[in-house]
Amino acid sequence: MASASPGLEATAPPGPGGHPPLVVVLSGPNLNLLGERQPEVYGAATLAEHVTGAREEATALGLVVEDHQTNHEGDLVELVHQARGRAAAIVVNAGALTHYSWSLHDALAAYDGVVVEVHLSNPAAREPWRHTSVVAPVADGTVAGFGGLGYRLAIRAVASLLTARVAGLEPGTGLEPGTGPEHAAGPEHGTGPALR
Ligand code: DQA
Repeated sequence: MASASPGLEATAPPGPGGHPPLVVVLSGPNLNLLGERQPEVYGAATLAEHVTGAREEATALGLVVEDHQTNHEGDLVELVHQARGRAAAIVVNAGALTHYSWSLHDALAAYDGVVVEVHLSNPAAREPWRHTSVVAPVADGTVAGFGGLGYRLAIRAVASLLTARVAGLEPGTGLEPGTGPEHAAGPEHGTGPALR
């Protein structure tokens, strides 16, 4: 058993060929309007500013960010497919698709890398129809309610999870898989190869 516990400050291990692992940041419908759209809910920052924050965090942690925004469900599914075999992780804010897109759910279920769901607002504290996420069951975890900080936290979670996968440890515990006190079933997409 290893003794070190990879924390959120973990620097991601290099990917294949020594290249920095790729993190694809995906944004769904209406997120292109951030900055103008309901600033009392989503804040004044633009999506570009959130992505810049994610990219800064990624650079500091040895990761590279590629970002895409689309208002179309099928395009988001395609972008998940394109991450297969190429990206070590996906950070996804699917907007309202979060709450009903089973095609996005299935695409993420077929993706073996790390998946972190992010929301600017806290959907659990909003209208009942936002309380269900079909992304959550196929994500390693969710960051919600922290505004733009959530994008930076999501990148930090990715770095920590990638480090844990390479070391064969439970994220954030330093324990070998299956030895933790409440070892529960993992996300539906499973634990694929550490880096892709
Ligand atoms: C959101 C929350 C969703 O419920 C909503 O439809 C969005 C944004 C968020 O980031 O808080 O478009 O994903």
